[in-house]
Amino acid sequence: RRVAILISGRGSNMQALVEAAKTPDFPVEIALVLSNRPDAAGLVWAEGQGITTAIVDHKLFKKDREAFEKAIQVELDKVHVEFVCLAGFMRLLTPWFIDQWYNRLINIHPSLLPSFKGLDTHARALEAGVKLHGCTVHFVRPDMDAGPIIAQKSVPVLDDDDPDSLAERVLAVEHALYPHALAEIVRGLEGDLTIKDERVIGIR
Ligand code: GRF
Repeated sequence: RRVAILISGRGSNMQALVEAAKTPDFPVEIALVLSNRPDAAGLVWAEGQGITTAIVDHKLFKKDREAFEKAIQVELDKVHVEFVCLAGFMRLLTPWFIDQWYNRLINIHPSLLPSFKGLDTHARALEAGVKLHGCTVHFVRPDMDAGPIIAQKSVPVLDDDDPDSLAERVLAVEHALYPHALAEIVRGLEGDLTIKDERVIGIR
């Protein structure tokens, strides 16, 4: 299955997906890495891997979100992908785009959803005093950081953590979880996976 990855920055989750896709039996080929920021470090890395890259700079579209997304869609159509993975893509998507990719648009979020939607999840987790934190891979719905949960992985919160140390611990498990979840989805859609009442059923 051909997959596109949308990034805005460093792209470490994108790198984890690309590396996983090189392993035998991984059911996914990364066909495109697209960034809304021309200076995203992840683009350079992807190019070095010989992956097709594209830039759709949201700043060129002023405030016209749909025109921005139509330009993304043009790039996606060129490479004939079946799934789109958001990996640190920092633009909110409209219902129009999400509808184009219904149940084929996946995101990773650095918290155990539905806790800590939005930004600064690690600082807020520390402030809340939770003892477990982690990350979630989910299908994208119009509400931010909502949508059927595909997979989650937790990490302990330690007494001496600061947001950076906690972020680092979560990021390490993100890099394992995202490829695992993507493979499960791709395989699952050919098998037992269903989405019922906005819950993903049929995978671990
Ligand atoms: C990750 O923590 C991801 O969960 C969040 O944004 C961060 C992106 O990091 N959505 P990277 O660009 O994948 O390194």
